[in-house]
Amino acid sequence: AKLHLLAQAAGKLYFGSATDNPELSDPTYVNLLSDSAMFGQITPGNSMKWDSTERSQGSFTFAGGDTVVALAHANGQLVRGHNCVWHNQLPSWVSGGTFTAAQLTNIVQTHCSVCPSNVFRYAWDVVNEPFNEDGTWRTDVFYNVLGAGYVTIALNAARSADPTAKLYLNDYNIEGSGAKATAMQNLVRSLKAAGTPIDGVGLQAHFIVGSVPPTLQTNIQAFIALGVEVAITELDIRMTLPATAALYNQQKTDYNTVISACKVLSGCIGVTIWDFTDKYSWVPNTFSGQGAACPWDVNFVKKPAYDGIVAGL
Ligand code: XIL
Repeated sequence: AKLHLLAQAAGKLYFGSATDNPELSDPTYVNLLSDSAMFGQITPGNSMKWDSTERSQGSFTFAGGDTVVALAHANGQLVRGHNCVWHNQLPSWVSGGTFTAAQLTNIVQTHCSVCPSNVFRYAWDVVNEPFNEDGTWRTDVFYNVLGAGYVTIALNAARSADPTAKLYLNDYNIEGSGAKATAMQNLVRSLKAAGTPIDGVGLQAHFIVGSVPPTLQTNIQAFIALGVEVAITELDIRMTLPATAALYNQQKTDYNTVISACKVLSGCIGVTIWDFTDKYSWVPNTFSGQGAACPWDVNFVKKPAYDGIVAGL
């Protein structure tokens, strides 16, 4: 029972994993990632971000992203592009720049047009993490200069450059209902009303063991009801180390809960885990004292979480 084949049998488009360029020098890792029965989709974890692709203005480098795309094509896997406009991993010429609205509009348009035209992809996270926890707009350079209209500028540019890619908004802590999810739903509603191209919402789903939101399924349904597809885009479920059998067992339950919620809703089209092995998880570097968030351990051995996913598909 391999995950992508099970997902397809359940009517989903894919089960996938994030990856990152440095990991591709690990043959054991690449061998597992390249199993298209297990992973039908991959997302570059870093190499399509602004600080990788347009480090100085107008000078584009796609080498890292292209390496991931080439691997996906060789394996027959879909690609999710990640991402175009985000407050983080921005080069300082953008984050620290002083721009007129016309200048920044042009910069966003250029960035979101040039990137999508250079790689084949199923979907593209055009705007990542636009909201604060309370549902107000994150006051990054884009919002400060352009207001909420930066989202429309980015989506229109991405659509012109790549008419077939599904255009997504992506965020965390919008998986369960609450102020931040409501803000994202209101944004989708207003974009739709204005005729702005928007195809999907990505729920990152960086969860903590024992804390999957109980409203996950009804909230996914609330997004779908707005006329967009939903994808789980960055799933991992971390714990405070050291890992114990009890934590692994709860983690299995939690993975199962997330996968099951997506399975029963046809508008939830696929699930991506934010890398499959603890060996390359971002969690220990970001959340001190936490880890063991992936379905495979550091030695590429499947954990109980894997069986939780299988049982949910
Ligand atoms: C993470 C990467 O996995 C890390 O390697 C990097 O150091 C920081 O970013 N939300 C996102 C992803 O949308 O782009 C982030 O990826 C994880 C949180």
